Amino acid sequence: MIFTQVDQRTRHFIAGLPKAELHVHIEGTLTPTRRWEIAARNGIRLPYADITALTASMDFEAPDAPTYLQKFLAAYYEGIEVLRTPEDFRDLTVDYLANCRDERVLYAELSFDPQAHTSRGVALAAVMEGLAEGRRIGRQELGVETNLILCINRDRPVDTAVSALTEARKFRDQIMGIGLDSDELYNPPAKFRAVYDLARSEGYRLTAHCDVDQPATRENIRQCLDILKVERIDHGINAIEDPALVDEARARGITFTTCPTWRQIDTAPRRVDRIRKMYDQGLKVTLNTDDPGLFASGTMGKMLPAVMVAGGFTFAEMAQLMINAFEGAWIDDGLRHALLGRTREYMLDWGNDK
Ligand code: ADE
Ligand code: ZN
Repeated sequence: MIFTQVDQRTRHFIAGLPKAELHVHIEGTLTPTRRWEIAARNGIRLPYADITALTASMDFEAPDAPTYLQKFLAAYYEGIEVLRTPEDFRDLTVDYLANCRDERVLYAELSFDPQAHTSRGVALAAVMEGLAEGRRIGRQELGVETNLILCINRDRPVDTAVSALTEARKFRDQIMGIGLDSDELYNPPAKFRAVYDLARSEGYRLTAHCDVDQPATRENIRQCLDILKVERIDHGINAIEDPALVDEARARGITFTTCPTWRQIDTAPRRVDRIRKMYDQGLKVTLNTDDPGLFASGTMGKMLPAVMVAGGFTFAEMAQLMINAFEGAWIDDGLRHALLGRTREYMLDWGNDK
């Protein structure tokens, strides 16, 4: 339960604010209800009595930092086993994008995990067909623009990452960038140097996860900058513990896609103090939901008002956090200009409305 009090004016401001999110795993948007429904239509019996029991299974205990990610990932990978057909990936994507429309998220970059599907016999073509159809509906019927980020699962062998990139060539025009996710322990960025060199040579944009409070996290951030040569870091909050990292990230204009998400057991958004510090130190910070189907923080519209209050962000600062996302987005200048224009108009109207 969240005890943060959010007043009506703040809610109203956030509801109308033009938004983008750059860090959301499309598989992590799978809600318990949709998971239940897809399992039934695919003839899969889930080991839960009903949706309530399924939802309760995702109520992560308060863990110590190093095991938290693994516990979370176990639930995430269990959840996505129901996804088998193009229709499953389409419905997942449309659910998420319909919510984006309702919450004024105008642009989203959707990460997806091809290895987690091909390794259990789901063809990449089926995944891509469903995502493409979902994104088409998003653009044409819901007015939400998207791009795709192919995430390499860092806890799988490097040769499977190379195979994933090779297979993805057939769908090159649908994929904007490459990311690196899953279990960070003993899987440092340097392990993927060759994969990132290959991706760079094929013209992909580059990002990578450096999850919060992982062992060796600052060294991993350093490797992302020096070895993988990314333009963005997903999470990356521990950078603030090292002034040299802060200076370098600021000088290089690295965008950080932070996620102040919370679980059922939490009483407030997590990591907000450190995100506030990043912002105050002039880093390009953005706010994102990561896995809104699994976290109690949910989607942008639900998460942001609590984050605004907990972090003491002003209206102008919340707008700047969204501007950071539009500026860090992997889109052409025409779309960027249009999206930034929507923010400017909104803030002018808001200012005149006092
Ligand atoms: N895959 C899906 N969500 C993830 C996260 N938060 N960290 C690492 N890998 C993930
Ligand atoms: Zn993530």
